[in-house]
Amino acid sequence: MKIFLDTASIESIKKFVDMGVVDGITTNPTLISREKGHPEDIMREIVKIVKGPVNLEVVATNTNDMVEEGLRLKKFGENVIVKIPMTMDGLMAVRKLKEKGIKTNVTLIFSSNQALLAAKAGASYVSPFIGRLDDVGQDGMTIIRELVQIFKNYGYQSEILVASVRHPIHVIEAGKLGAHIVTLPPEILGKMLTHPLTDKGLSLFLSDWEKVKKEHKYNI
Ligand code: G3P
Repeated sequence: MKIFLDTASIESIKKFVDMGVVDGITTNPTLISREKGHPEDIMREIVKIVKGPVNLEVVATNTNDMVEEGLRLKKFGENVIVKIPMTMDGLMAVRKLKEKGIKTNVTLIFSSNQALLAAKAGASYVSPFIGRLDDVGQDGMTIIRELVQIFKNYGYQSEILVASVRHPIHVIEAGKLGAHIVTLPPEILGKMLTHPLTDKGLSLFLSDWEKVKKEHKYNI
């Protein structure tokens, strides 16, 4: 299962990339608005730091402008994936960008039918927002279950990128269902990393080792 970081924070990206667990990045206009600095500098910096796919979102809303913006974003680096919103214009842009050899990620997906259309249009990634569905009382994970089945039935190549992840259990559920990718805010990745019993166990090992050192005058 691939793990992407859902952030535009250079600090967080550097930290987790150094840990070797980050396969790619997703950003969106909201995430970029939370950072200091010029948006273009931030995007270029992320593309430089990360070897895997970096998803950068267009803000244009009509097909031609989306294509033009996508082509501009793609110039930031070979690993750029152009994020396109799930609209009719968006799907037309997906097709046009695909014809130019540019990979896209269709975002703001809230139903399996939307994802099916995005896959048919040629998106490399489809991004269902499961947390936002949970927030309004719909089970977000149902879409993941349906999509894994539908894409398998018909051999669609688009990868299912589980977005709007709210907690580590979402990650486990997505993994059990066979989703290709989860994109996680840095806090969720931090929560996956730790367990109170790990901290407790380590502190016991270290204090016991202190006793060994003292008893044997052993200084390691
Ligand atoms: O990847 C999409 C994600 O950023 C949306 O997450 O938490 O704003 O619903 P959220």
